[in-house]
Amino acid sequence: MEEICVYHLNLCKSSIKGSKIVLLPGDPFRVPEIAQEIKKQYGREIKELAWKREYRTFLCHVNKKPILITSTGIGGPSTSIAIEELAMLGVRLFIRVGTTGAIQKDIKVGDVIITTGSVRLDGASTHYAPIEYPAVANHEITNALIEGAEKVRVKYYVGITASSDTFYPGHERYDSFTKYVPKRFQGSMKELQKLHVLNYEMESSTVLTLTSAMGLKGGCISGVVVNRTSREKITKESLALGEINAVKVAVSSIEFLI
Ligand code: URA
Repeated sequence: MEEICVYHLNLCKSSIKGSKIVLLPGDPFRVPEIAQEIKKQYGREIKELAWKREYRTFLCHVNKKPILITSTGIGGPSTSIAIEELAMLGVRLFIRVGTTGAIQKDIKVGDVIITTGSVRLDGASTHYAPIEYPAVANHEITNALIEGAEKVRVKYYVGITASSDTFYPGHERYDSFTKYVPKRFQGSMKELQKLHVLNYEMESSTVLTLTSAMGLKGGCISGVVVNRTSREKITKESLALGEINAVKVAVSSIEFLI
């Protein structure tokens, strides 16, 4: 039988050893960090399988089950390619592990947000399902992420995320080149706050829409790296804190899913 190989991820089915679960950070440099956390929590060997463009993949094991970590790059288009190609190789459960800007006052840097559903401010997901179709997380993944956060004692919030294609206008950021936010997004943060949306990020609407539409399972956890109600800048320290907590929770949730 001919081996199934995928172009962008540069992976073949035989190399992923039957992995059904993948963790999806955006940043390729976060992939070995997550692999190290898996090794720390579950004590098994880790192996780099491929790195092409933004797509870097490691194979790990949790309780003898193979688990993948693949970076998606930033935003919906590159994330959609990762989901398509991983699904072709046999992966069925997709957990985004990212960073985020909180938009509700009480949420602090280092807290994590477990997304139940996303406001679809992206474009890629509309190529898979009409905008009326909900971007919702799989309940088993959501529950596992909650159990993971309880286990490692990281403060978590569960709720709705705004997921936008752009970091600057789509998140109503004024610290951009022109400082101009087009009319469509002026006042959008305030409206999302009123609608009890918790945070901004850039990939969850793609992950949740595509997985639901394809009959797969998707979830999302994000570490808070800035609270947008008080500032726009992300610092090195806030990034490190948000990242490590999201990674710890995501990794600890895997045992509740296998
Ligand atoms: N990641 C995002 O997409 N937005 C933020 O504000 C912070 C991290």
